[in-house]
Amino acid sequence: MSVIRTVVAGVGSYLPARVVTNDDMSKIVDTTDEWIVERTGIHQRHIAAEGEMTSHLALAAAREAIADAGIDVQEIDTIILATTTPDYTFPATATTVQAELGLHHGAAFDVQAVCSGFVYALTIADTFVKTGQSKVALVIGAETFSRLLDWTDRTTCVLFGDGAGAVVVRGETGEGTNADRGILTAHLHSDGRYKDKLYVDGGPSSTQSTGHVRMEGREVFRHAVVNIAEAINESLEATGLKADDIDWFVPHQANKRILDGTARRIGLPPEKVVMTVGEQGNTSAASVPLALDKAVKDGRIKKNDLVLLEAMGGGFTWGSLLFRF
Ligand code: UT7
Repeated sequence: MSVIRTVVAGVGSYLPARVVTNDDMSKIVDTTDEWIVERTGIHQRHIAAEGEMTSHLALAAAREAIADAGIDVQEIDTIILATTTPDYTFPATATTVQAELGLHHGAAFDVQAVCSGFVYALTIADTFVKTGQSKVALVIGAETFSRLLDWTDRTTCVLFGDGAGAVVVRGETGEGTNADRGILTAHLHSDGRYKDKLYVDGGPSSTQSTGHVRMEGREVFRHAVVNIAEAINESLEATGLKADDIDWFVPHQANKRILDGTARRIGLPPEKVVMTVGEQGNTSAASVPLALDKAVKDGRIKKNDLVLLEAMGGGFTWGSLLFRF
Protein backbone atom coordinates (compact mmCIF):
# COMPACT_ATOMS: atom_id res chain seq x y z
CA MET A 1 0.00 0.00 0.00
CA SER A 2 1.44 3.36 -0.97
CA VAL A 3 1.91 5.84 1.90
CA ILE A 4 3.55 9.22 2.47
CA ARG A 5 6.77 8.95 4.45
CA THR A 6 8.62 11.84 6.05
CA VAL A 7 12.18 11.46 4.81
CA VAL A 8 15.23 13.21 6.29
CA ALA A 9 16.74 14.95 3.27
CA GLY A 10 19.46 17.05 4.92
CA VAL A 11 21.20 17.56 8.26
CA GLY A 12 23.17 20.44 9.76
CA SER A 13 24.57 21.70 13.04
CA TYR A 14 26.34 24.57 14.73
CA LEU A 15 28.39 24.85 17.91
CA PRO A 16 29.55 28.17 19.38
CA ALA A 17 33.32 28.69 19.14
CA ARG A 18 34.01 29.04 22.86
CA VAL A 19 34.88 25.77 24.62
CA VAL A 20 34.72 25.55 28.41
CA THR A 21 36.58 22.56 29.90
CA ASN A 22 35.95 20.84 33.22
CA ASP A 23 39.12 22.47 34.55
CA ASP A 24 37.63 25.85 33.58
CA MET A 25 34.47 24.87 35.50
CA SER A 26 36.52 24.00 38.58
CA LYS A 27 37.60 27.66 38.72
CA ILE A 28 33.93 28.74 38.83
CA VAL A 29 32.40 26.19 41.26
CA ASP A 30 33.70 23.59 43.72
CA THR A 31 34.10 20.68 41.32
CA THR A 32 36.77 18.55 39.63
CA ASP A 33 37.37 17.09 36.18
CA GLU A 34 37.38 13.63 37.82
CA TRP A 35 33.91 14.08 39.38
CA ILE A 36 32.32 15.41 36.19
CA VAL A 37 33.84 12.74 33.94
CA GLU A 38 33.06 9.88 36.30
CA ARG A 39 29.44 10.91 36.98
CA THR A 40 28.49 12.23 33.52
CA GLY A 41 31.13 11.47 30.85
CA ILE A 42 31.32 15.21 30.07
CA HIS A 43 34.79 16.68 29.33
CA GLN A 44 33.82 20.05 27.88
CA ARG A 45 30.90 22.11 26.55
CA HIS A 46 30.45 24.96 24.04
CA ILE A 47 29.11 28.27 25.37
CA ALA A 48 27.53 30.98 23.18
CA ALA A 49 29.35 34.31 22.97
CA GLU A 50 27.84 37.44 24.44
CA GLY A 51 25.14 38.63 22.04
CA GLU A 52 25.01 35.25 20.27
CA MET A 53 21.36 34.19 20.48
CA THR A 54 19.43 30.98 19.93
CA SER A 55 18.21 32.24 16.53
CA HIS A 56 21.84 32.73 15.40
CA LEU A 57 22.72 29.14 16.32
CA ALA A 58 19.49 27.85 14.77
CA LEU A 59 20.05 29.74 11.54
CA ALA A 60 23.60 28.44 11.10
CA ALA A 61 22.43 24.84 11.60
CA ALA A 62 19.42 25.41 9.33
CA ARG A 63 21.53 26.82 6.49
CA GLU A 64 23.79 23.77 6.64
CA ALA A 65 20.81 21.37 6.58
CA ILE A 66 19.23 23.23 3.63
CA ALA A 67 22.51 23.07 1.67
CA ASP A 68 22.87 19.38 2.55
CA ALA A 69 19.33 18.67 1.30
CA GLY A 70 20.12 20.48 -1.95
CA ILE A 71 16.74 22.22 -1.96
CA ASP A 72 15.72 25.75 -2.84
CA VAL A 73 15.01 27.45 0.49
CA GLN A 74 11.65 28.64 -0.90
CA GLU A 75 10.46 25.00 -0.95
CA ILE A 76 10.27 25.07 2.87
CA ASP A 77 6.68 25.56 4.01
CA THR A 78 7.04 24.81 7.74
CA ILE A 79 9.66 25.69 10.36
CA ILE A 80 9.45 24.03 13.75
CA LEU A 81 12.05 25.13 16.29
CA ALA A 82 12.42 23.22 19.53
CA THR A 83 13.89 25.41 22.24
CA THR A 84 13.66 26.25 25.93
CA THR A 85 15.79 29.36 25.44
CA PRO A 86 13.98 31.54 22.87
CA ASP A 87 15.53 34.90 21.95
CA TYR A 88 12.46 36.61 23.43
CA THR A 89 9.35 35.47 25.30
CA PHE A 90 7.59 36.13 22.01
CA PRO A 91 7.49 36.05 19.03
CA ALA A 92 8.58 32.48 18.45
CA THR A 93 12.27 32.27 17.56
CA ALA A 94 11.21 30.19 14.54
CA THR A 95 9.74 33.35 12.98
CA THR A 96 13.14 35.08 13.28
CA VAL A 97 14.71 32.13 11.47
CA GLN A 98 11.96 32.30 8.86
CA ALA A 99 12.62 36.00 8.23
CA GLU A 100 16.40 35.51 8.07
CA LEU A 101 15.92 32.75 5.50
CA GLY A 102 13.84 35.14 3.39
CA LEU A 103 10.64 33.11 3.71
CA HIS A 104 7.26 34.85 3.76
CA HIS A 105 4.99 31.87 3.33
CA GLY A 106 4.03 28.80 5.34
CA ALA A 107 4.12 28.52 9.14
CA ALA A 108 6.88 28.90 11.71
CA PHE A 109 6.52 28.16 15.41
CA ASP A 110 8.44 27.02 18.49
CA VAL A 111 7.94 23.83 20.46
CA GLN A 112 8.65 23.68 24.19
CA ALA A 113 9.33 20.18 25.49
CA VAL A 114 12.77 20.95 26.96
CA CYS A 115 15.28 18.15 26.22
CA SER A 116 12.60 16.14 24.35
CA GLY A 117 11.86 19.14 22.13
CA PHE A 118 13.51 17.88 18.96
CA VAL A 119 11.79 14.48 19.10
CA TYR A 120 8.48 16.31 19.68
CA ALA A 121 9.17 18.75 16.81
CA LEU A 122 10.12 15.99 14.37
CA THR A 123 7.00 14.02 15.31
CA ILE A 124 4.85 17.11 14.66
CA ALA A 125 6.60 17.61 11.30
CA ASP A 126 5.91 13.96 10.46
CA THR A 127 2.20 14.47 11.17
CA PHE A 128 2.16 17.67 9.08
CA VAL A 129 3.81 15.91 6.15
CA LYS A 130 1.63 12.79 6.35
CA THR A 131 -1.58 14.87 6.48
CA GLY A 132 -0.53 17.12 3.59
CA GLN A 133 -0.19 20.27 5.73
CA SER A 134 3.51 20.42 4.80
CA LYS A 135 5.63 19.21 1.89
CA VAL A 136 9.07 20.34 3.06
CA ALA A 137 9.73 21.16 6.71
CA LEU A 138 12.74 22.52 8.54
CA VAL A 139 13.02 21.08 12.05
CA ILE A 140 15.54 22.62 14.43
CA GLY A 141 16.68 22.04 17.99
CA ALA A 142 18.57 25.09 19.27
CA GLU A 143 19.57 26.25 22.73
CA THR A 144 21.59 28.85 24.56
CA PHE A 145 21.00 26.82 27.70
CA SER A 146 23.96 28.46 29.46
CA ARG A 147 21.73 31.53 29.92
CA LEU A 148 19.43 29.54 32.24
CA LEU A 149 22.19 28.22 34.46
CA ASP A 150 22.92 29.23 38.02
CA TRP A 151 26.71 29.48 37.76
CA THR A 152 27.01 29.05 41.55
CA ASP A 153 25.18 25.67 41.54
CA ARG A 154 27.70 22.91 40.84
CA THR A 155 24.97 20.27 40.63
CA THR A 156 23.60 21.76 37.40
CA CYS A 157 26.01 24.24 35.77
CA VAL A 158 28.60 21.58 34.87
CA LEU A 159 26.07 19.55 32.88
CA PHE A 160 24.82 21.78 30.08
CA GLY A 161 26.07 23.44 26.90
CA ASP A 162 24.88 25.47 23.90
CA GLY A 163 24.38 24.43 20.27
CA ALA A 164 21.95 23.75 17.45
CA GLY A 165 21.09 20.96 15.04
CA ALA A 166 18.63 20.90 12.15
CA VAL A 167 17.08 18.59 9.60
CA VAL A 168 15.14 19.18 6.41
CA VAL A 169 12.36 16.63 5.94
CA ARG A 170 10.09 16.11 2.96
CA GLY A 171 7.26 13.83 1.94
CA GLU A 172 8.10 10.89 -0.32
CA THR A 173 6.00 7.95 -1.39
CA GLY A 174 6.72 4.67 0.38
CA GLU A 175 5.35 1.14 0.26
CA GLY A 176 4.11 1.18 3.85
CA THR A 177 6.73 -1.34 5.00
CA ASN A 178 9.72 -1.13 7.35
CA ALA A 179 11.97 -1.05 4.27
CA ASP A 180 10.70 2.46 3.43
CA ARG A 181 12.99 5.41 3.91
CA GLY A 182 11.59 7.98 6.35
CA ILE A 183 9.90 8.03 9.75
CA LEU A 184 8.39 4.63 10.55
CA THR A 185 6.94 5.37 13.99
CA ALA A 186 7.08 7.93 16.81
CA HIS A 187 5.82 7.87 20.40
CA LEU A 188 5.56 10.90 22.69
CA HIS A 189 4.82 11.04 26.41
CA SER A 190 4.64 13.43 29.32
CA ASP A 191 3.77 13.19 33.00
CA GLY A 192 3.29 16.55 34.71
CA ARG A 193 3.32 15.03 38.18
CA TYR A 194 7.10 15.29 37.93
CA LYS A 195 7.26 18.93 36.80
CA ASP A 196 9.13 19.96 39.99
CA LYS A 197 11.97 17.46 39.51
CA LEU A 198 13.52 19.49 36.69
CA TYR A 199 12.36 23.03 36.07
CA VAL A 200 13.31 26.70 35.79
CA ASP A 201 12.33 28.84 38.80
CA GLY A 202 11.13 31.81 36.79
CA GLY A 203 8.97 32.85 33.86
CA PRO A 204 6.79 35.69 32.54
CA SER A 205 3.63 34.64 34.37
CA SER A 206 5.21 33.70 37.70
CA THR A 207 8.21 35.91 38.44
CA GLN A 208 8.42 38.15 35.36
CA SER A 209 12.04 36.97 35.10
CA THR A 210 13.90 34.20 33.29
CA GLY A 211 14.91 32.10 36.31
CA HIS A 212 17.47 29.31 36.68
CA VAL A 213 17.51 25.56 36.15
CA ARG A 214 16.75 23.46 39.24
CA MET A 215 17.03 19.69 39.21
CA GLU A 216 16.79 16.68 41.48
CA GLY A 217 19.43 14.87 39.47
CA ARG A 218 19.14 11.44 41.05
CA GLU A 219 15.34 11.37 40.61
CA VAL A 220 15.60 12.46 36.97
CA PHE A 221 18.25 9.82 36.34
CA ARG A 222 16.07 7.06 37.86
CA HIS A 223 13.05 7.95 35.70
CA ALA A 224 15.13 8.54 32.57
CA VAL A 225 16.47 5.00 32.19
CA VAL A 226 13.02 3.43 32.74
CA ASN A 227 10.97 5.88 30.62
CA ILE A 228 13.41 5.90 27.71
CA ALA A 229 13.60 2.11 27.57
CA GLU A 230 9.77 1.88 27.61
CA ALA A 231 9.41 4.42 24.79
CA ILE A 232 11.99 2.56 22.71
CA ASN A 233 10.19 -0.74 23.22
CA GLU A 234 6.98 1.00 22.09
CA SER A 235 8.66 1.97 18.80
CA LEU A 236 9.98 -1.55 18.29
CA GLU A 237 6.61 -3.14 19.08
CA ALA A 238 4.73 -0.74 16.77
CA THR A 239 6.92 -1.73 13.83
CA GLY A 240 7.66 -5.35 14.75
CA LEU A 241 11.37 -4.53 14.53
CA LYS A 242 13.95 -5.89 16.97
CA ALA A 243 16.83 -4.14 18.76
CA ASP A 244 19.17 -6.12 16.46
CA ASP A 245 17.63 -4.34 13.44
CA ILE A 246 18.72 -0.90 14.71
CA ASP A 247 21.85 0.35 12.95
CA TRP A 248 22.34 3.51 15.02
CA PHE A 249 21.05 4.72 18.35
CA VAL A 250 21.07 8.54 18.52
CA PRO A 251 19.90 9.41 22.03
CA HIS A 252 19.48 12.67 23.90
CA GLN A 253 22.88 13.37 25.44
CA ALA A 254 22.26 13.99 29.15
CA ASN A 255 24.70 11.66 30.83
CA LYS A 256 26.94 8.85 29.54
CA ARG A 257 25.76 6.62 32.36
CA ILE A 258 22.11 7.02 31.24
CA LEU A 259 23.07 6.20 27.64
CA ASP A 260 25.11 3.15 28.66
CA GLY A 261 22.28 1.98 30.95
CA THR A 262 19.63 2.44 28.25
CA ALA A 263 21.69 0.65 25.58
CA ARG A 264 22.28 -2.27 27.96
CA ARG A 265 18.58 -2.44 28.86
CA ILE A 266 17.44 -2.69 25.24
CA GLY A 267 20.35 -4.92 24.21
CA LEU A 268 22.29 -2.56 21.93
CA PRO A 269 26.09 -2.86 21.71
CA PRO A 270 28.01 0.32 22.69
CA GLU A 271 29.45 0.70 19.16
CA LYS A 272 25.94 1.45 17.83
CA VAL A 273 25.43 4.35 20.25
CA VAL A 274 26.26 7.84 18.93
CA MET A 275 27.79 9.71 21.87
CA THR A 276 28.56 13.44 21.87
CA VAL A 277 27.98 14.22 25.54
CA GLY A 278 31.74 14.14 26.23
CA GLU A 279 32.50 17.07 23.91
CA GLN A 280 29.19 18.96 24.06
CA GLY A 281 27.54 18.28 27.43
CA ASN A 282 23.75 18.33 27.52
CA THR A 283 22.49 20.80 24.91
CA SER A 284 18.80 20.09 25.67
CA ALA A 285 16.68 20.19 22.47
CA ALA A 286 19.81 20.51 20.32
CA SER A 287 21.52 17.33 21.45
CA VAL A 288 19.72 14.77 19.24
CA PRO A 289 20.11 16.67 15.93
CA LEU A 290 23.72 17.58 16.85
CA ALA A 291 24.52 13.89 17.41
CA LEU A 292 22.63 12.90 14.25
CA ASP A 293 24.57 15.44 12.18
CA LYS A 294 27.89 14.24 13.59
CA ALA A 295 27.25 10.59 12.77
CA VAL A 296 25.99 11.42 9.26
CA LYS A 297 28.91 13.74 8.50
CA ASP A 298 31.57 11.29 9.78
CA GLY A 299 30.08 8.57 7.58
CA ARG A 300 28.70 6.27 10.26
CA ILE A 301 25.01 6.76 9.37
CA LYS A 302 24.42 5.85 5.73
CA LYS A 303 21.41 5.95 3.44
CA ASN A 304 18.85 3.27 4.39
CA ASP A 305 20.29 2.74 7.89
CA LEU A 306 17.67 2.29 10.62
CA VAL A 307 18.10 5.05 13.21
CA LEU A 308 16.53 5.22 16.66
CA LEU A 309 16.10 8.60 18.37
CA GLU A 310 15.01 9.13 21.96
CA ALA A 311 14.89 11.92 24.51
CA MET A 312 13.71 12.68 28.03
CA GLY A 313 13.50 16.00 29.84
CA GLY A 314 11.65 18.41 32.09
CA GLY A 315 7.91 17.91 32.53
CA PHE A 316 8.72 15.02 32.48
CA THR A 317 8.51 14.67 28.72
CA TRP A 318 9.97 11.79 26.74
CA GLY A 319 9.65 9.94 23.49
CA SER A 320 11.21 7.80 20.78
CA LEU A 321 11.24 7.87 16.99
CA LEU A 322 12.44 5.30 14.45
CA PHE A 323 13.39 6.30 10.92
CA ARG A 324 15.25 4.89 7.96
CA PHE A 325 17.79 7.46 6.76
O1 UT7 B 1 18.40 16.42 30.02
C1 UT7 B 1 17.47 16.37 31.05
C2 UT7 B 1 17.65 15.19 31.82
N1 UT7 B 1 18.68 15.35 32.82
C3 UT7 B 1 19.29 14.29 33.23
O2 UT7 B 1 19.04 13.25 32.71
C4 UT7 B 1 20.22 14.40 34.41
C5 UT7 B 1 20.06 13.16 35.24
N2 UT7 B 1 20.90 13.12 36.42
C6 UT7 B 1 22.22 12.97 36.35
O3 UT7 B 1 22.80 12.92 35.30
C7 UT7 B 1 22.95 12.77 37.65
O4 UT7 B 1 22.03 12.56 38.70
C8 UT7 B 1 23.90 13.93 38.01
C9 UT7 B 1 25.09 13.92 37.08
C10 UT7 B 1 23.16 15.24 37.92
C11 UT7 B 1 24.42 13.76 39.44
O5 UT7 B 1 25.07 12.52 39.58
P1 UT7 B 1 24.73 11.60 40.83
O6 UT7 B 1 25.59 10.42 40.75
O7 UT7 B 1 23.24 11.36 40.84
O8 UT7 B 1 25.19 12.49 42.04
P2 UT7 B 1 24.33 13.10 43.24
O9 UT7 B 1 23.42 14.17 42.76
O10 UT7 B 1 23.74 11.97 44.03
O11 UT7 B 1 25.47 13.77 44.10
C12 UT7 B 1 26.53 12.99 44.72
C13 UT7 B 1 27.48 13.93 45.46
C14 UT7 B 1 26.74 14.95 46.36
O12 UT7 B 1 27.54 15.13 47.52
P3 UT7 B 1 27.13 14.42 48.90
O13 UT7 B 1 25.76 14.97 49.21
O14 UT7 B 1 27.12 12.96 48.61
O15 UT7 B 1 28.21 14.87 49.83
C15 UT7 B 1 26.77 16.21 45.56
O16 UT7 B 1 26.74 17.36 46.37
O17 UT7 B 1 28.21 14.73 44.50
C16 UT7 B 1 28.10 16.11 44.85
N3 UT7 B 1 28.16 16.90 43.63
C17 UT7 B 1 29.30 17.32 43.08
N4 UT7 B 1 30.57 17.18 43.45
C18 UT7 B 1 31.51 17.74 42.66
C19 UT7 B 1 27.11 17.29 42.85
N5 UT7 B 1 27.57 18.00 41.80
C20 UT7 B 1 28.92 18.03 41.91
C21 UT7 B 1 29.95 18.58 41.14
N6 UT7 B 1 31.22 18.41 41.55
N7 UT7 B 1 29.71 19.26 40.01
